[in-house]
Amino acid sequence: MQERATAALAAGKTISFVPTMGFLHQGHASLLREGRARGDLLVLSIFVNPTQFGVGEDFESYPRDLQRDSETARDNGVDIIFAPTAGEMYPSGYQTYVNVEKVTLPLCGASRPGHFRGVTTVVAKLFNIVKPTYAFFGQKDFQQLVVISRMVRDLNMDVTVVGLPTVREDDGLAMSSRNAYLSPEERLGARCLSRALAAVSELYHAGEVVVERLRAELLRILDSEPLARIDYAEFRDGDSLEEVGLADDRTVVALAVRIGTTRLIDNIMIAGGVTWKEKC
Ligand code: PAJ
Repeated sequence: MQERATAALAAGKTISFVPTMGFLHQGHASLLREGRARGDLLVLSIFVNPTQFGVGEDFESYPRDLQRDSETARDNGVDIIFAPTAGEMYPSGYQTYVNVEKVTLPLCGASRPGHFRGVTTVVAKLFNIVKPTYAFFGQKDFQQLVVISRMVRDLNMDVTVVGLPTVREDDGLAMSSRNAYLSPEERLGARCLSRALAAVSELYHAGEVVVERLRAELLRILDSEPLARIDYAEFRDGDSLEEVGLADDRTVVALAVRIGTTRLIDNIMIAGGVTWKEKC
């Protein structure tokens, strides 16, 4: 992979890179399409990264389907699929990790200790292997996008990070490889995340800026779903991820909610709102 990247750069080509853990869906495809449009060589990585999963999390059961992913890759103009093994990425004796500080502490960093250390480490390694000009990430994983942008700035990595909007199912559920875990009943219950976010955005546009009142509406909708257990539901500044008491156009509303045993995350920029085909 490194040799092919070096050759492409030497030939004056740009490299677009979409890192994933596979089991591709339309969210991943939207990143691939943007990558295809921006760069000369389009590289997709598929690697279920063990270092970003905690003890008792779903590393073993994370859905995998390389055959179907190869077809999605082909349909979206991918030039190279880079799918290393865990042994290749972390051979014995491996001992180097990248740690971004403040922005990894709240939200998913608080509920999944060590998660972002695994993410930044693998993304730094992938950047060194793929040598991308542009790297594409989804706003679905908002904190991940903030953390990676921070790492790239702080470590002077020579790559442009591009964040792209969340792709949703027709009923509003943010697409995720983990949606495959949901039973039909849970799948219906999972609509509460996007519904709650949309309601909060509507309230904000109607003039409400006091976070405690916006939060009450968020919790009201989430609590009315019997299958939902809230992990976090927070209002934070979209750049610093610090908590805010009054919402403004930079405020992000971030959710992690368990539906049965499946932990789902979703978020919106409060000013942007959530749009999907079927309003429910
Ligand atoms: P994964 O969950 O496979 O996601 C890969 C990329 O797809 C991420 O940038 C994610 O934000 C984006 N994505 C996922 N669902 C999306 C949706 N509904 N709309 C738009 N984009 C979406 O995120 C990871 O993998 C890993 O942490 C990784 C960065 C690959 C490091 O291991």
